[in-house]
Amino acid sequence: MTTTTAQTPAARKLWGGRFTGKNDPLMEKFNASISFDSRFYKADIVGSQAYAKALALKQIITDDEASKLHDGLDKVLAEWESNKFVIQDGDEDIHTANERRLGEIIGTSISGKLHTGRSRNDQVATDFRIWVRDEGRKLVVVLKELIATAVVRAENEIDVIMPGYTHLQRAQPIRWSHLILAHAWSWHADCQRLEQLLDRLNQLPLGSGALAGNPFQIDRDFLAKELGFDRLMPNSLYGVSDRDFVAEFLFWASLTMVHISRFSEDLIIYSTGEFGFVQLADAYSTGSSLMPQKKNPDSLELLRGKSGRVFGGMTGFMMAYKGTPSTYNKDLQEDKEPVFDAYDTLMGSLQITTGVLSTLTIRPERMLASMSIDMLATDLAEYLVRKGVPFRETHHISGEAVRLAEERKCTMADLSLADFKALHPSFDEDVSQVWNFEQSIENRCTPGGTSRATVQAQIDSLKSFLQ
Ligand code: ARG
Repeated sequence: MTTTTAQTPAARKLWGGRFTGKNDPLMEKFNASISFDSRFYKADIVGSQAYAKALALKQIITDDEASKLHDGLDKVLAEWESNKFVIQDGDEDIHTANERRLGEIIGTSISGKLHTGRSRNDQVATDFRIWVRDEGRKLVVVLKELIATAVVRAENEIDVIMPGYTHLQRAQPIRWSHLILAHAWSWHADCQRLEQLLDRLNQLPLGSGALAGNPFQIDRDFLAKELGFDRLMPNSLYGVSDRDFVAEFLFWASLTMVHISRFSEDLIIYSTGEFGFVQLADAYSTGSSLMPQKKNPDSLELLRGKSGRVFGGMTGFMMAYKGTPSTYNKDLQEDKEPVFDAYDTLMGSLQITTGVLSTLTIRPERMLASMSIDMLATDLAEYLVRKGVPFRETHHISGEAVRLAEERKCTMADLSLADFKALHPSFDEDVSQVWNFEQSIENRCTPGGTSRATVQAQIDSLKSFLQ
């Protein structure tokens, strides 16, 4: 069958003029993106409305035509918003679908003028930037809610002390709040990165045409203003093919999921019977179908597990992106699904993390019971440093005290002053004051340390960030 001008707008392809044969139906399906790019129907419509105005400003269409295009597009938008838009065979992508429907509503003699000087290449690049920018701002909000939850917890539980770990071995006493805030600082960095990348992507591609630019002196500054862009893409070839914002967004999502995964891993470990530092709320746990006693941290395991798919989306996209010659190539259509998937995963994960963190019960007595005197070995070395002994020596001496206590099957606090004096003459009565977890914590009062004042300073600083 040959394509004829007698075909209905629905059956005629946007690019059909030079084609005589029909596509393989499998190819039609393979080529189509409507199943996922309909998600930015609104960006596509507002982009077209701005473009119609810009065409009228240059008298390429009349003001009356521009207002008919505008109103017709409003009707198309209303159909999407009320779930009444019917996707038809031949609606290859959202741009095709919206234009087809617009033609049915206002007539193709007017709708057919909308695409003058525009290409789906600058159109899709514009739509997708608008979508990531506007939806991305919602992620900033939920991320800030997570940080706020961490800050509230940290402030309420500032008195709670626990063992701090390196290599998952007990290391030094810390405040529980200090640990929560460590995660909050990662999220703070994620928040800044997201805001920065949203700002960076806010450059307008529209007016780049298919690749070489727009031949109708379209006012790109006007378009940028209409569509809320801060700058113009400075080169039309770059304008249609740059997808760095996709790469940045996917990297941001991957790294944020890494942080959520690491936070989850901490809580999974701390919620085991062996640690017992925290207990997950029932709302975020599940039971076992077989073992009645089980309470599993499924929420945290899912958060940890979902980081994998986001990272996979990023690497998949990077592989597709790297091979594309200048300028637009259909490979670029592969940019959307990983972004939508990452977006949904992040939106869900951030909210679940907030839920878990805000409902968690902590067990300070278990944290305290896990502390051991050997965690103060560094403090013992520091005690001697304050008496003028070089640290390299004091580290060794303290190590000997640890060994002596081990040999005697007691703690260092049980060693006598004579034992200590035998290790070094600078030891005195006041060595007994070293065996104090709270004191060890308060000694670490340089900015960023775990003392009460320096933890409170972090809380204050995050609070002012959130304001
Ligand atoms: N659906 C396409 C995409 O997502 C729109 C651009 C099509 N451009 C083209 N020259 N075929 O990339």
